[in-house]
Amino acid sequence: MIKKIEESVAFLKQKGIPETALGIVLGTGLQGLIDSIQPLISLPYDALPHFPKSTQEYQQGQLVYGTLEGKKILAFQGRFHRYEGFDYFELTYWVRVFAALGGKIIVISNAAGALHPSFQKGHLMLIKDHINLQGGSPLALKGIETLGERFVDMSAPYDRDLMKKAETIAKQKKVVLHKGVYAAVVGPQLETAAEYRYLKIIGADAVGMSTVPEVIVARQLNLKCIAFSVLTDSCDPDHLEPISVPDILEMAKKGEADLIKIVKSLVFEM
Ligand code: HPA
Repeated sequence: MIKKIEESVAFLKQKGIPETALGIVLGTGLQGLIDSIQPLISLPYDALPHFPKSTQEYQQGQLVYGTLEGKKILAFQGRFHRYEGFDYFELTYWVRVFAALGGKIIVISNAAGALHPSFQKGHLMLIKDHINLQGGSPLALKGIETLGERFVDMSAPYDRDLMKKAETIAKQKKVVLHKGVYAAVVGPQLETAAEYRYLKIIGADAVGMSTVPEVIVARQLNLKCIAFSVLTDSCDPDHLEPISVPDILEMAKKGEADLIKIVKSLVFEM
């Protein structure tokens, strides 16, 4: 595992990508941020040794090294999901490569269904904590101790200072930014009414299919994390309406402009 990571890092260095502290995952809700980045080096995931090949028709995979708000960043455009059949090592591989390349902070976005009754679709949620319902862990691997600690502390997975900054920025920009607990499921099917009811009872404010494995690995590697959900549908178990992925993506586009504003200011202030 280490050898693969070292080879990926050596390849990126050889392509001219230097140590970069800040990484941004352009998940759903942040894909448009790519237009604000002045790219210096772009490499399709397919060209990177040991990177999984992306299968998601909605997300094209590439790594972009460039400048955002005057800061050098590494943008990961497109991510890997458990529901695509990737194993946990594959889907969190980019986090390990980023850390080995000198990464310190990751900014993550995702689309999620809103469970909290006062969170509306189109709104944003800052993830303050999470519940892993994926039934597995990216740290439950033979030989994990060669990559970092096995029993990783999860008392504060999301960086409090970054969260405070994001909340201040949202207030200044008059953007609604809820704060809540994100539950990660495997998917790809959406939830039944009974499942949404269960998620509410156990304390989730939003539910989605990503982010948590990446954050677990990031914490193993001592990266600071901040993560945002674009709320794309209302998951009210008593009035559940059919939703489709195109509906979710359309709603994600609506929240995107606000999230981009927040992330740009956050990067500027870093
Ligand atoms: N459930 C799971 N994932 C999601 C949802 C949802 O309702 N909406 C967007 N991603």
